[in-house]
Amino acid sequence: MTLYSEIQGVRRPVCLHIEASPRGGRSTSTARSRAFLDELTRLEPRLVGDRLPLWEAPLPEFDGATIAAKYARLAGKSLSAEEERAWTTVSHLVDGLRRADAVVISTPMWNMGIPYKLKHWIDLITQPGLSFKFDPETGYSPLLEDRPVLIVLSSAGDFSSGINRGRPDLATPYLTAAFRFIGFKTITIVPVAPTVGPEYEVTKGRQIAEAQLRALAPGFLERHV
Ligand SMILES: Cc1cc2nc3c(=O)[nH]c(=O)nc-3n(C[C@H](O)[C@H](O)[C@H](O)COP(=O)(O)O)c2cc1C
Repeated sequence: MTLYSEIQGVRRPVCLHIEASPRGGRSTSTARSRAFLDELTRLEPRLVGDRLPLWEAPLPEFDGATIAAKYARLAGKSLSAEEERAWTTVSHLVDGLRRADAVVISTPMWNMGIPYKLKHWIDLITQPGLSFKFDPETGYSPLLEDRPVLIVLSSAGDFSSGINRGRPDLATPYLTAAFRFIGFKTITIVPVAPTVGPEYEVTKGRQIAEAQLRALAPGFLERHV
């Protein structure tokens, strides 16, 4: 089932693209994701693209007021004016995510994990009462409905063939856990790797990713667990 959003009275699917590489037009992960979105738009011309370039968008600091608001909400206490302001800001970010019928995240691997801007955004949108809830009896439960999520992860090392030069991939398990925590279970991770090394290996890695993305596009918007 596709959860179409209502825009100007017409129900159209929205795909949110979160760009985590600062490399703009030179970014491998952004390029592959944009090609995927072009293909999605060709297949579903009503698609509305929503873009969140994390290095251009001024993300609010995840500061003391935001953390105090988070703890106050977890404890069921009322918020001060400063905490309310901080909470309104994070609420808007979660609204942007909730509005999306599908989410595409393009990110490089950085130091075995993800760029700090992507971690910053995840810290901001992972909030009690907005994207998850906590009950001492039952523990943590997600508050966002499942929707298709594609993560295009580019890395110098190739973790499928073992050419990782001794460095582990902590990005894949972290991103999978972070999105499952808020309710997104239909996650596909497409690695683009290696992006450094012999030319034929780099080309082969890109071609494998392109083929995976081409195969994923038809039906992507309808995919749910
Ligand atoms: C700060 C930084 C840290 C990196 N750390 C890793 C790493 O731990 N493992 C890896 O395989 N590649 C690492 N790389 C290489 C990038 O993941 C790789 O070049 C990727 O293709 C860049 O994607 P982009 O073009 O979308 O920015 C790192 C690159 C940078 C700039």
